[in-house]
Amino acid sequence: MAFMFLRESIRAYRERDPAARSSLEVFFCYPGLHAVLWHRAAHRLWQLGLRSSARFVSNMGRWLTGIEIHPAVKLGRRLVIDHGMGLVIGETAEVGDDVTLYHQVTLGGTSLSHGKRHPTVGDGVIIGAGAKVLGAITIGAGARIGANAVVTQSVPAGLTMVGIPARPIDRHRRAPAFDPYGTPCGEMIDPLVRDIESLRAELSDLESRVSRMAVARRETAD
Ligand SMILES: CC(C)(COP(=O)(O)OP(=O)(O)OC[C@H]1O[C@@H](n2cnc3c(N)ncnc32)[C@H](O)[C@@H]1OP(=O)(O)O)[C@@H](O)C(=O)NCCC(=O)NCCS
Repeated sequence: MAFMFLRESIRAYRERDPAARSSLEVFFCYPGLHAVLWHRAAHRLWQLGLRSSARFVSNMGRWLTGIEIHPAVKLGRRLVIDHGMGLVIGETAEVGDDVTLYHQVTLGGTSLSHGKRHPTVGDGVIIGAGAKVLGAITIGAGARIGANAVVTQSVPAGLTMVGIPARPIDRHRRAPAFDPYGTPCGEMIDPLVRDIESLRAELSDLESRVSRMAVARRETAD
């Protein structure tokens, strides 16, 4: 299991970082990979209810990599954190499979409530260096967030968002597969598929809002 995790993670780095020359180089020299290994240990402790130990292990990982991932965070497979320094992922964030995050990305909260308050990031999302994604919002599968963008609203699947506040660019152009740094270099995606993906993202956003409202209502009733 751990071997498979390492193998597929290293492969993901080699596919998504043109600077990665060998698997050994990725294993020894990529703080993003090390941070996820520390997180796996911290998350296991968190799940066992050993909360303080989990925070301690997580903090060790932060000291050594400059990457802060709360031990409660659910990370998907083949996550690539490139460079990574200054990256922060808050407690209730969820990250899908095949996501790419660059240095100084923040998946942060905007409220002091204890419930879900951090983003849910869909499969295949790319978040550029310095981008801040804030609140209990959903970033739809395959979306791209430009460097230094500030995103506070849910983003439909496949869209590219840039700026502060983030706004969509070029709705009709999107890379068919991963491209380093999120820069497309080829064909377009079928617009119908893109629209269906957008509807799915909106639906999942609505579902998560309804479930948050249900939790809030139960808490008020108690
Ligand atoms: C957002 C991004 C994915 C868009 O890539 P793209 O589809 O090739 O877009 P383009 O470069 O054609 O730019 C389209 C428009 O968006 C603007 N734009 C692109 N990225 C932007 C950003 N981060 N912030 C603000 N505007 C941006 C461009 O200036 C251009 O504007 P124009 O139409 O007025 O000329 C890419 O620019 C990006 O930010 N990638 C992240 C890269 C990164 O973090 N690298 C770190 C490596 S260490």
